[in-house]
Amino acid sequence: VSKDLNLVDEIARLKREKNAVIMAHYYQTNEIQDIADFIGDSLALAQQAAKTSADIILLAGVHFMGETAKIISPSKKVLVPDLNAGCSLADSCPRDMFETFLKKHPDHIVVTYVNTSAEIKALSDVVVTSTNAKAIVDSLPKDAKIIFGPDRNLGNYINSVTGRDMLLWDGACHVHEKFSLEGILQLKKEFPQAQIIAHPECKKPLLLVSDFVGSTAALLKYVSQSDVQTFIVATESGILHQMQLAQPHKTFIPAPPVDSTCGCNDCEFMKLNTLSKIYNTLKFEWPTIELEESLRLKALGSIEKMLAISN
Ligand code: 13P
Repeated sequence: VSKDLNLVDEIARLKREKNAVIMAHYYQTNEIQDIADFIGDSLALAQQAAKTSADIILLAGVHFMGETAKIISPSKKVLVPDLNAGCSLADSCPRDMFETFLKKHPDHIVVTYVNTSAEIKALSDVVVTSTNAKAIVDSLPKDAKIIFGPDRNLGNYINSVTGRDMLLWDGACHVHEKFSLEGILQLKKEFPQAQIIAHPECKKPLLLVSDFVGSTAALLKYVSQSDVQTFIVATESGILHQMQLAQPHKTFIPAPPVDSTCGCNDCEFMKLNTLSKIYNTLKFEWPTIELEESLRLKALGSIEKMLAISN
C-alpha cells in the first residue's frame, strides 16, 4: 500500500463503490473499530450478517466469525482481511476428535460455542455465544443430557448458573486463560473502589472474585449503567476502546496477564487485521470465505436455532 494513500478515505470510497459493509468485533484495534459500520460481540455480528443489505461483508474479526457470516448469508461475498486470523478455542476442537467424543455419548444434546469451525457446527444441535449461552441451555429440557464444547471455562460457568451438569470438552481461549489472579487482586488493593469485571472464558477462580461476569456486549452495557467509576477489565483489551468512548470520565484498567512482559492481553489473531489489509481486501475482494454447500447447510441448522432463541 502506497504511503500517500489515505487509507481511511480509500476504504470509505471502496465501501461506497462496492456496497460493502465492515463489521468488526470489539477485540479489533481502535482504528479498525473507528472505521467499522458495525461493531459487536459474536452474537450481534451473526445477527447483523443475517440482516444486512450489503453485497459484500468484510468481517474484521477471526476466521470463525467470517465463516458464520457466510453460513448465514451465502449469497453475499464474505471477506476477511487475513485468513491466518484463527482462534485457539476453535483449534482446540478438531472435528475427528469431537466426532469420536460424540459417538461415545450418543444420547446427549450437543451445544457448542460459536468459536468453532463449520465442521463442528455441523455436528451440533445448537450453537451459543457468551451472550445467549445461559438462555439457550435454560431452554433445553430439564432432564436432557448435554455436551458442551469447546470452552471448559464457559461450560463450567454455565453449569454453575443453570444448575446443569453438562459434559465439557476440554478447550480454552489462550487469552482469557492468561490473566493473573494475583496481579488482579494486587490492582484491587491499589484501587479498592474498582470493580473486577470478567468474560466467562476466564478461569473459575477469577470469575469467583469478579463483581460482574458477561460477554463483551454485556460488559460494555454494565460499565455504562453502573455508578462505579473504575473497572479492572478481564477480557481482551480491544473492548476498552468502546468502554472509554461510552464512558469518557470512567477509568478502565486492563487486567494484567501472568506474563507481565507482554503488557496486556491482546489476541494476536484478532490483531492480525490492519487498515492496510482491509484496504487491499476490499480492493481485490480477496480473501473470501468459501464453504461447500452441503457443509454450510449442515452448520446452518444449529446457528438458525440459536438465532431463533436469541431474537
Ligand atoms: P463475545 O463476542 O461473545 O463476547 O465472545 C468473545 C470471543 O470469544 C470472541 O472470540
